[in-house]
Amino acid sequence: MNISAKTKVCCIIGNPVNHSLSPQMYNAAFASLGLDFIFLAFKVENVRLAIKSFRSLRIPGIVVTVPHKQTVIKYLGHLDEAAEKIGAVNAIKNNKGQLTGINTDWMGAIKSLEEKTVLNGKKVALLGAGGAARAIIYGLKKRGAEILLFNRTLEKAEELAREFDLSQASKLTDLEKIRQTDIIINATTVGMEENKSPIPEKVITKQLVFDIVYTPHKTKLLRFALAKKCPVVYGYKMVLYGGTKIFEFFTGSKAPLEIMEKALLKNLK
Ligand code: ATR
Repeated sequence: MNISAKTKVCCIIGNPVNHSLSPQMYNAAFASLGLDFIFLAFKVENVRLAIKSFRSLRIPGIVVTVPHKQTVIKYLGHLDEAAEKIGAVNAIKNNKGQLTGINTDWMGAIKSLEEKTVLNGKKVALLGAGGAARAIIYGLKKRGAEILLFNRTLEKAEELAREFDLSQASKLTDLEKIRQTDIIINATTVGMEENKSPIPEKVITKQLVFDIVYTPHKTKLLRFALAKKCPVVYGYKMVLYGGTKIFEFFTGSKAPLEIMEKALLKNLK
């Protein structure tokens, strides 16, 4: 790497951020294409101050992660349609101080699923009603899938179902309804760094199972599905495909998918 006064600095902001795999993924991509960019991670507590600094320093691209995806919106001049509808931003492009927020989480989820299936007309059990679920609902609706929402706190699922005009919201314990779907997507945080599954093994029969949790790589839910010989989609794919879109948005160059995938997999447990 040849860092000079011309090198462009991109970054991720989050809190905590030291587990992020974005620096490895984007730096590998910059290096492979010989782009004069570098990618760093910043732990940010005060989003307003961070955005002000990025504007003044002309940082060209900022990836945004938990817990700033919603709060950052009020400091941005423009949002793309997806970020607006989802109510969350996962990347910001800085064009001479003019900041635009985008959301590629939904694209990452949809592309990951479309590698394995056609979504139009499929019955999907979406587990969770937080920020990640919102991005996935936005994408699934675009593709014409039927969404059944399940959440530990029923009121949150009902609220979300109303907002996105979904036919159904249920408790996460309504197992019979989950059993009768074509696709199960875990958009809860259950399974992260722990040996837990949001639903029991008996619910999985022959569905395609996608877990957006990517640490550990093979979550308990995915292990249940693999044991039943069901097709699975690993969570890192959503990070990868969302990331390739961000890379293209920041650099204007086509993302080196294989390089980025290799960098991610090398750093996953
Ligand atoms: P994210 O931005 O990753 O979606 P979030 O907005 O905090 O995170 O949402 C977390 C989701 O995981 C919620 O659907 C939450 O359920 P509640 O709405 O009932 O809180 C779900 N979740 C978190 N811990 C859970 C647990 N132990 N069991 C079941 N669901 C859980």
